Amino acid sequence: MGIVIAMAGKGGTGKTTIAGLIIRIIKEKKIGSIIAIDADPNSNLGEILGIEVKENIGTILDDISAHPESVPGNMGKDAYIEYRVQTAIIEGDGFDILTMGRPEGPGCYCYVNNALRNAMSKLIKNYDFVIIDNEAGLEHLSRRTTREADSLVVVSDASVVGLRAAQRITELTSELKIKIKNKFLIVNRFEGALDKDRIAELKLTYLGTLGLDNEIEKASIEDGSLMGLNEKNTSINNLRKLGEKIWHCN
Ligand SMILES: Nc1ncnc2c1ncn2[C@@H]1O[C@H](COP(=O)(O)OP(=O)(O)OP(=O)(O)O)[C@@H](O)[C@H]1O
Ligand SMILES: [Mg+2]
Repeated sequence: MGIVIAMAGKGGTGKTTIAGLIIRIIKEKKIGSIIAIDADPNSNLGEILGIEVKENIGTILDDISAHPESVPGNMGKDAYIEYRVQTAIIEGDGFDILTMGRPEGPGCYCYVNNALRNAMSKLIKNYDFVIIDNEAGLEHLSRRTTREADSLVVVSDASVVGLRAAQRITELTSELKIKIKNKFLIVNRFEGALDKDRIAELKLTYLGTLGLDNEIEKASIEDGSLMGLNEKNTSINNLRKLGEKIWHCN
């Protein structure tokens, strides 16, 4: 199985942005096949990667739950869900992307959720790198995608409150019994030195900071994609160095 990289952090800290940059860097390094999983129901990882997403797992589950008769008789529900998950994968330039979305219907999703988790476990075995962008909070990581990750990348701002939240997220992963090999911290939108003692108190491996980046800001206002950023972009360059442990974590 490949390396599973999961993003976490408080709302708006830069999880999706950094997920997008990590995907871009791994793609450019040509070190293996990649699947990007957008596990945030208010998804925008596709946009960051310059991909138009039309179908997501939520709408597929709604469809199966509302029309169980649509499952072909010779296939079985599990195999059908697996097949539909496959069809929801979009092939990008150098990576695949799967958007989880959120089921909207009133139906009971216990069965389909279980089947989905099995399908997801099988799916991620086909890739060298699995990058999961999560919403703020980790419940989805355990419920619908995977219970294991090689690298948890916690993104925080530099504030005391932000760093405390980063610590809480790390503790939550233990409570949720998510198996994580390495827990990393990136402080985003900050340049300068952080209080070493405060960082040392966290049960996270501190990788470094990414500064406030006008080019990222501009890209997000213009078309939302980070794939067109100049290859000499400071954040990409910094992340190439400080992120080594994230993708070479085994
Ligand atoms: N280093 C940076 N410099 C400038 N702008 C940034 C930087 N990092 C993120 N941003 C901008 O901040 C905003 C929030 O970033 P992003 O969507 O990545 O956060 P998030 O943690 O994924 O948010 P959410 O919790 O809503 O999913 C975006 O507009 C993004 O372009
Ligand atoms: Mg996000």
